[in-house]
Amino acid sequence: MTQQPREQWATRTGFLLAAIGSAIGLGNIWRFPAVAYENGGGAFLLPYLVALLTAGIPLLIMEYAIGRKYRMSPPAALRQMARPAEVLGWWQVVVSLVIATYYALILAWAVRYVGFSVGRQWGADPEGFLFGTFLKVAPAPGAPSSYVPGVLWPLVAVWVVVLVILAFGVRRGIERANKIFIPLLIVFFAALVIRSLTLEGAGTGLDALFSPDWSELGNGSVWVAAYGQIFFSLSIGFGIMVTYASYLRRRADLTGSAMVAGFANSSFEILAGIGVFATLGFMATSAGVPVSDVASSGLGLAFVAFPTVINEMPLGSLFGVVFFLSLVIAGLSSLISIVQVVVSAVQDRTGMRRMPAVFGVGGLVALASILLYPTDSGLYVLDAADHFINQYGIALAALVALVVIAWVLRALPMLQANADETSAIRLGHWWRICLGVITPLVLGWMMVDSLIQEFDENYGGYSTGFLLAWGWSIAAGALVVGVLLTLVHWKAGGEDIDLDMESPADREAHHRKEP
Ligand code: ALA
Repeated sequence: MTQQPREQWATRTGFLLAAIGSAIGLGNIWRFPAVAYENGGGAFLLPYLVALLTAGIPLLIMEYAIGRKYRMSPPAALRQMARPAEVLGWWQVVVSLVIATYYALILAWAVRYVGFSVGRQWGADPEGFLFGTFLKVAPAPGAPSSYVPGVLWPLVAVWVVVLVILAFGVRRGIERANKIFIPLLIVFFAALVIRSLTLEGAGTGLDALFSPDWSELGNGSVWVAAYGQIFFSLSIGFGIMVTYASYLRRRADLTGSAMVAGFANSSFEILAGIGVFATLGFMATSAGVPVSDVASSGLGLAFVAFPTVINEMPLGSLFGVVFFLSLVIAGLSSLISIVQVVVSAVQDRTGMRRMPAVFGVGGLVALASILLYPTDSGLYVLDAADHFINQYGIALAALVALVVIAWVLRALPMLQANADETSAIRLGHWWRICLGVITPLVLGWMMVDSLIQEFDENYGGYSTGFLLAWGWSIAAGALVVGVLLTLVHWKAGGEDIDLDMESPADREAHHRKEP
């Protein structure tokens, strides 16, 4: 099989919108407000900003440089840097695969909630509706025993949309979709935030979110939470940005793009925090309780607290439709990027064409998601997969990759020169210090901290062995499958940078800059 010429983004704006679309996702809308609130409120913004500047943006620049330089997805690109490093790329690909399977499930719920918002179909008890009527959650975690049709069909629909967009390719599929998604998301979200700020009690909610508890800054786990939030939210450490940057033109400005993407994502995240807490302030004021009584995290926030608020506000149905549509759009643009990592990794190492790769490889990921999650135990399975893959997938893979790139391959100066050649802002020593020293130390500390908690608390307090076994198998399985995929003798791809696939202008630039 011969490799296909690599696609390219039509414009820099197209690439930026796709990168921002990947970054802005479920993590911004429901994860950030809860994480910020639980970790010192206003004081959390300091570690958050430090994490953005010392890890988020430097890593984005590094991932962009690797993708743009080698014009390949993570396994093939890392193989170009050093053959054994391919395993790190496959590890990230498998992590993405796992995330894609459950991320789609949450999207499917949001799709249903767009419909449920019309006429507030959850009734007076949104919690009972979510866990009982809708998800039909089994009373205790255990192996799945039955499928839930009301979750199954929207999940299938989500996968059809994702695969069809991917089938159109990078420029006609991903880029075009994001050109529609991001402006829509901005309009919807601006409307939500403005509405929430005009609700009675909004100020109380904002006070709760932003009142700084400075004593929390001395607490290590607050810093760990800030770094964890930046990784998930910016989509770094799971191969997405390497993949997206591999479709960039050689002369694209990397550092500027990383700053725009990083700050756009964080601005959206803080806006989401404002909207969510203004709304919670309204809920607390109407119920006559403190905000701490109504603030919950993750699922509870989006699918219980919001429906409760929607029940009480004038024009609540409309607010609900716009809120859940925003979740769907933000999640879709992220899911597309996560699946593209898997599709493009296989394409790069096999030379497979796009259609068979999207429907064959992407189809298998969809099938795994559809078989595993829309069941009465889907919620438990998702919760454990999310926890373990975040801690021992994204964070651990990022730590190992950073140590290898910075200290074993000593590739940071080469990547810095590569980024500097085409970027208006030049990187200084700070970039190498952040990536070579600060971020690995923080990630290492994160690892030790979460392992201690793991053994102290027996994850999530679940006493059954099923979820622990499942969680650890997912985390360890990602690495094992990554190693196996590295050992496969692929028929094509990843051996050399094929300069013949470039345009004459690109080729000339390549020879001039990389003698
Ligand atoms: N970055 C994506 C999110 O925040 C994965 O949800």
